[in-house]
Amino acid sequence: IILIVQNFPDSARKKPDCQLTVLCYSARMKILSIETSCDETAVSIVEIKGDLKEVKVLSNIVSSQIELHAQYGGVFPMMAKREHAKNIIPIFEKTLKKSKLYSPLPKNKLSTSLKKTRENKIKKLLERESELCEQFIPLISKIKKPKIDLIAVTTGPGLEPALWVGVNFARALSVAWEGEKIPIVSVNHMLGHTVSSIAEKVQKNGNVKIRKISFPAIALLVSGGHTEILKLKDFHNIKKLGKTRDDAVGEAFDKVARLLGLPYPGGPQISRLAEEARSCDLKNENYKLPRPMIHSKDYDFSYSGLKTAVLYMLQKITKITEDDKKMVAREFEEAAIEVLVHKTLRAIEEEKVKTLLVGGGVARNKHLEKVLRDEVNKKFPKVEILFPEPDLSTDNSLMIALAGFMKYKKSNKKSASKIKAEGNLSL
Ligand code: KG4
Ligand code: ZN
Repeated sequence: IILIVQNFPDSARKKPDCQLTVLCYSARMKILSIETSCDETAVSIVEIKGDLKEVKVLSNIVSSQIELHAQYGGVFPMMAKREHAKNIIPIFEKTLKKSKLYSPLPKNKLSTSLKKTRENKIKKLLERESELCEQFIPLISKIKKPKIDLIAVTTGPGLEPALWVGVNFARALSVAWEGEKIPIVSVNHMLGHTVSSIAEKVQKNGNVKIRKISFPAIALLVSGGHTEILKLKDFHNIKKLGKTRDDAVGEAFDKVARLLGLPYPGGPQISRLAEEARSCDLKNENYKLPRPMIHSKDYDFSYSGLKTAVLYMLQKITKITEDDKKMVAREFEEAAIEVLVHKTLRAIEEEKVKTLLVGGGVARNKHLEKVLRDEVNKKFPKVEILFPEPDLSTDNSLMIALAGFMKYKKSNKKSASKIKAEGNLSL
């Protein structure tokens, strides 16, 4: 147990009878983390001991909206928002139960558990998330406040309407649970992806061991919304070296998949076809695509031209066979990945780093992992490469808990009312 003695605030100093405030701070922290930036509703509770010495994952739930969005070929922000608002309470309730933090109030306390003023404040806060509000008040009124020390919530970047659901949910919790005494930390989604590879699953129950990182490091972040190369002095000193000027690489996978008549999300589909083509050496030299910006002196990317090049290529094929699809998928995947690998290797060399961290949904791509590992091992054998566990590559709230904890330790917490969603938040 660490005792922290807080300074007197100015207002308190004027009061002669004011008492010293002592905050009790446990060396073990339970963090509730919330992620709703795109099409996954994710809620976790982790218990962190010391400075990430031990991380117990009490529960880590991700509920995907993929099946819904697949019918429309992509994610519509307002539809995603509605789904988050509908699903977050059942997921939260499941998270509490799995973490053994769900404890119903005795029947005689139910009516007094949520004071009217607080209830009205929550109703106002959740005005635009009516489905969430309708489920929030009955649940919170019937349970005891769980022992949670910190709330970490993704505030951006992402789809702003979707982000607001998580943010307002976190704010409502802090109102319901006695004002703003549980600190809330706002987490950048990309910081989440940056730290995701430090978590190594050690047990079937999902508990993780934190890998030690040697800095400086390069992070390659590849997702449906972002393609970035970062330089890290540590997890608090991050410089963006480059990013995509148009589409993200995951977005290009999704769009090319659509051109090939494959369902959303396209990344795994393209990857499967490309793998099949490689395994039986299926290749057509006429199917050649550009490697956009591969020789540009910066660390920027451009993937929208590559997608258009696939479109033109497909228009030239009179009758597209299954083999054609496999060959196009292979050439597209190899073109997209060659640029990522080339620029990442250059960043490792120029910035003289010790570690390469990879994060984001596209980190699940087996070809990317193979080529990157082969090339880095060959050219920079001393550089350590960390890929996230497959279920921590795509959006999840465990990475938000880890990033939130690091941020909290640096004492960047904000009071609940000041937290807001920012669709274009940058690292
Ligand atoms: O990180 P993420 O879950 O969401 C965003 O923050 O965008 O990434 C989702 C993206 C999608 O574009 C999906 O097609 C892509 O990751 N993805 C893949 C693979 N698995 C997922 N792309 C290429 N190969 C894969 N195996
Ligand atoms: Zn993401």
